[in-house]
Amino acid sequence: MVDIFAFAGGRGGAWRVLGSRTVRGEGLPTVESLDMVEEPRDAAILSPAWVLRGLISNIRYATKAEGEALRAVQQGLARPQATLAALIPIRKNAAWWGLAQDERRAIFEETSHHTAIGLDYLPAIARRLHHGRDLGEPFDFLTWFEYAPEDAPAFDALVDRLRATREWDYVDREVDIRLARA
Ligand code: HEM
Repeated sequence: MVDIFAFAGGRGGAWRVLGSRTVRGEGLPTVESLDMVEEPRDAAILSPAWVLRGLISNIRYATKAEGEALRAVQQGLARPQATLAALIPIRKNAAWWGLAQDERRAIFEETSHHTAIGLDYLPAIARRLHHGRDLGEPFDFLTWFEYAPEDAPAFDALVDRLRATREWDYVDREVDIRLARA
């Protein structure tokens, strides 16, 4: 049983779009709101402008120790105080996918310190990673984050730090959608 999540952009969803920015590559049509549902449930949005899908998959890069460090502090989704969210769909280029697993891990963590940077922002930021690549989706990853309004500046700082890493040299499409509970 795989957990597939669908993100539908349109009108009448549970999350109101505060702003949307194309960071790299082709953007997405601007929408008023967004809904996230676990399939096979249907999104509340009728006739969405777009639907992006991704599944929860196995861990690719995190070591046992990193996994333990994350589990010790990370928070789940749907905390009452986490009224803000971000959906950041990301695609990586052919050069990335042409690398071997050990080369990708080295860029991801030893060079870019993705997990180490991310840990600085836990437990304030809750996250869930969805994989779209093996579903033939336009984005390889749908990254989802939830946080309280007072942690929005920290989230901005986190995103800036990650985008400045070597890992992001391989990102060829990225859209940054900021949301508030409707
Ligand atoms: C993957 C941690 C924030 C984008 C990962 C993985 C970890 C992680 C451990 C690897 C999962 C695996 O081993 O398969 C964190 C933490 C964060 C954070 C603790 C703090 C909130 C972010 C942000 C973004 C992002 C803000 C986007 C702007 C991604 C992407 C992947 C990923 C695209 C998949 C990379 C790949 O498989 O090539 N993250 N992350 N992360 N994260 Fe983060």
